[in-house]
Amino acid sequence: MSLYQATASAPVNIACIKYWGKRDTKLILPTNSSLSVTLDQDYLKSTTTSRADPSFEKDQLWLNGSEDEIKPGSRLETCIKEMKRLRKQEVEDKDPSAPKLSTMHVRIASYNNFPTAAGLASSASGFAALVSSLAALYALPVSPSTLSLIARQGSGSACRSLFGGFVAWEMGTKADGSDSLAVEVAPQSHWPSLHAIICVVNDAKKGTSSTSGMQRTVETSPLLQHRIKHVVPQRMADISKAILQRDFDSFARITMQDSNQFHAVALDTDPPIFYMNDVSKAIVALVTEYNRIAIEKTGKRKAAYTYDAGPNAVIYVEQENAKEIVDMILQYFPDAAANFKDVFGLYANDAKKGAVIPGFNEAVAHKWEQGVKSIIHTKIGDGPRTLGESESLLGANGMPK
Ligand code: DP6
Repeated sequence: MSLYQATASAPVNIACIKYWGKRDTKLILPTNSSLSVTLDQDYLKSTTTSRADPSFEKDQLWLNGSEDEIKPGSRLETCIKEMKRLRKQEVEDKDPSAPKLSTMHVRIASYNNFPTAAGLASSASGFAALVSSLAALYALPVSPSTLSLIARQGSGSACRSLFGGFVAWEMGTKADGSDSLAVEVAPQSHWPSLHAIICVVNDAKKGTSSTSGMQRTVETSPLLQHRIKHVVPQRMADISKAILQRDFDSFARITMQDSNQFHAVALDTDPPIFYMNDVSKAIVALVTEYNRIAIEKTGKRKAAYTYDAGPNAVIYVEQENAKEIVDMILQYFPDAAANFKDVFGLYANDAKKGAVIPGFNEAVAHKWEQGVKSIIHTKIGDGPRTLGESESLLGANGMPK
């Protein structure tokens, strides 16, 4: 008897133009288009194994080893159902000899190689890996954009993790969502020197989830309406052009403006939502001061911060400037050195010690103990990968390993 099984991994993506607001909460259709950078899976990824078998009595899923119930009507159930529908439509209906995998239950095991506690969004890579592993299991002859239609229904931002490089989620206009999908703006190879420095900020309290926060913003923020109509469309065009021209200065300016506006619409929500904390704001001040000097010298910015629905900072930078950024973060947050894996060898055998560039006004922020928990240095990455048997997360007995 054959084993019907496949394993795939998918990356995390960090938006430069933020998705914030749904016009349809069931289908997950956004109120504006968005654009992201895919990060390297060597550092951050979700891996998922899916198996179909006639003996399975129900669909089951394990996340990081513990079973997650697949509730009726849930996003998870929708994604699995949609993938089975595609299997039937694209494979079984066309080739009567193809095994009827769409009629069998599946077991799915998923694993994130980064701690959920780090506060890094895992839903995007998670749903992208789920959809990618099922697409491999079902041998679907469909494009990543088609798969993004399904990942989108798991978590909006997940649709952008179906591609590497720079990815746009086009909001679409149709009521059924069939044109609300991800497309590649430029591949990873277009700008391989683009790096990301993630500052994991200490945060005790649990914030408002993206899903409920954005719905409240849609219902109460007049500023969101302005953003949707008059700001995002132009920014999408401008940042795409900046990316195609590898114009870091414009890319950085637009990325920071859009992060700021996303946090402004959160604040404009009634009652207000705060995602950035004082450490986040200190990092904004540091990047701003760093850019002030760069602009004075060359007329161009050298770093771009962006923040999602939490206090962590992601700083985009060209590889040649990565050390200056890490130096600067360590100068103000020395405790982060203990949790910084120097994978690019910035410090070789030197001590991981802070520093600022000449002319830097050190008074723009004060030093913090334990403000930044860890620093992750990574770079732009590729899209989902199909992995071999040896990477399977399910054992011979059909249970997670
Ligand atoms: C701030 O994709 O997590 O990260 O669609 O409700 O699952 P749901 O929301 P989610 O929202 C992400 C919001 C964001 C911005 C972005 O990634 O574009």
